[in-house]
Amino acid sequence: MNKTKLTKTLKNLPIGNIAFFKTIGSTNDLAAEWADQGAPDFSVIAADEQTKGRGRTGRKWYTFPGSALAFSVLLHPPSDMKSEQIHLFTGLGSVAVCAALESLYQLHPEIKWPNDILLDRKKVCGVLTEAHWIGDKLQGIILGIGINVTNRSIPLNQELAYPAVCIEDIVGSQVDRTILLKSILEQIIPWRKKINTLEFIQAWNHRLAFKDEGISLVSPNNVTQPAKLLHLESDGGLTVEFSDGQQQTIKAGGIHLRQAIDS
Ligand code: BTN
Repeated sequence: MNKTKLTKTLKNLPIGNIAFFKTIGSTNDLAAEWADQGAPDFSVIAADEQTKGRGRTGRKWYTFPGSALAFSVLLHPPSDMKSEQIHLFTGLGSVAVCAALESLYQLHPEIKWPNDILLDRKKVCGVLTEAHWIGDKLQGIILGIGINVTNRSIPLNQELAYPAVCIEDIVGSQVDRTILLKSILEQIIPWRKKINTLEFIQAWNHRLAFKDEGISLVSPNNVTQPAKLLHLESDGGLTVEFSDGQQQTIKAGGIHLRQAIDS
């Protein structure tokens, strides 16, 4: 992956600004600076290595040189968007990554709500959506996406929050990161227009991992609660059922899921 190839490959897409870095702290941090500076909609920042990559709930995200796809897309929010709809963009990133993996490599990815993409029930990708405010004005939505491409992308000595896998180990051949990026961006373009539609929620729900299976809900302070995962609601909330038959719809917050077997 390099700047020349990236620019050439993406030349027919309606990209705002575009930047590629051999190494950067975090593409999401630079995207936030770009939002401050009024960068155009659909600006893209990609990097070969991140030294301060971030995941959800403050976790580190490792991006080792030549091993992963790490990028951020700056989106201008629709003018009528409410702050409680921001998490729909995590679904947008997840659906776009799944659709790209399906069409390029005929894979069957699943979405571990709210922001992980799984292959063979192991994490291959994480989506970090960050809202950028100036005062009380939502200036931009930053969609940060990190994908394990080669087996060097998976940290060896760090404790992983979830078992990980890379695309090349599943596909069995080399994966072109620039082509993968192009395909994801091509998926974001139509799906973002449908973000408030039933069609979008169905596309997200259709790929949801652990449907009708036992899971554990893990709260930010690590309290776990067993439940059965049911489905997504039209606002992107996740409806689960507890053993007493009570149902609850959870919003993204700091909650994450585990397969029941892990609990
Ligand atoms: C997660 O699994 O918690 C989300 C991981 C998101 C990682 C991507 S890599 C590109 C962008 N820059 C970052 O610092 N994080 C996101």
